[in-house]
Amino acid sequence: MLEIQSLDVFHGRLQVLWDLSLAVGDGECVTVLGPNGAGKSTLVESVMGLNRPARGSIRFEDEEITGLKPNDVAARGIAIVPEKRELFGRMTVAENLALGAYGHGGEVDARVYDLFPVLAERRDQLAGTMSGGEQQMLAIGRALAARPRLLILDEPSLGLSPLYVSTVLESIAALNREGLTVLLLEQNVRSALEYSDRGYVLENGRVVIEGPSAALLEDPRVQASYLGL
Ligand SMILES: Nc1ncnc2c1ncn2[C@@H]1O[C@H](COP(=O)(O)OP(=O)(O)OP(=O)(O)O)[C@@H](O)[C@H]1O
Ligand SMILES: [Mg+2]
Repeated sequence: MLEIQSLDVFHGRLQVLWDLSLAVGDGECVTVLGPNGAGKSTLVESVMGLNRPARGSIRFEDEEITGLKPNDVAARGIAIVPEKRELFGRMTVAENLALGAYGHGGEVDARVYDLFPVLAERRDQLAGTMSGGEQQMLAIGRALAARPRLLILDEPSLGLSPLYVSTVLESIAALNREGLTVLLLEQNVRSALEYSDRGYVLENGRVVIEGPSAALLEDPRVQASYLGL
């Protein structure tokens, strides 16, 4: 469904991604793991159309999307929950969700409220006054309101308490079981691998390990560097 090949991306003169290739199949949940500065957000920005790769290609459903503008990428069916959640803090929960559903006449899919009942309970609350975990659910809800075929989440567990981390990751796993394809970029390595099918480890902008998530959990390099074993 998503196929990234030999991507080189620069920020100014600094090369951040090096010959990066990865793929996400229809219906899969794939994790990209990597420490701070590895290039996870840069990769997300490349898919989103916020930076232009110097080399390589990004294909979605067999069509080239490299170089498209963010709105056009979204219109193809990719929704992204960025690392900085970018909610409209002075708008209500319901208004934020309606913006996500802009392409569907503002009509919010009832499944968003089924998945995160707190959003229904708080629909009239200003987004900026929600807790961090609630805001993350709203950010995911807003992405889902666009009814994407591929959902990309940049560190959804960042800054959340352990309780919210499992709530949010379990919701993502539930969406995936219902057929949504997911690409998850995470530092919360154990949880992310437990919830995904396959994973890639990104270090200094290069894929250094890849394989089924169960194999990565058993990989001594992953255990030593990311699982504290
Ligand atoms: N706009 C920018 N201008 C210059 N350098 C940047 C820019 N954005 C990112 N970088 C650099 O690119 C590298 C990769 O950053 P990136 O944010 O992609 O990493 P990350 O894996 O998402 O890290 P984190 O886990 O901390 O979010 C870092 O060295 C960062 O300093
Ligand atoms: Mg990041």
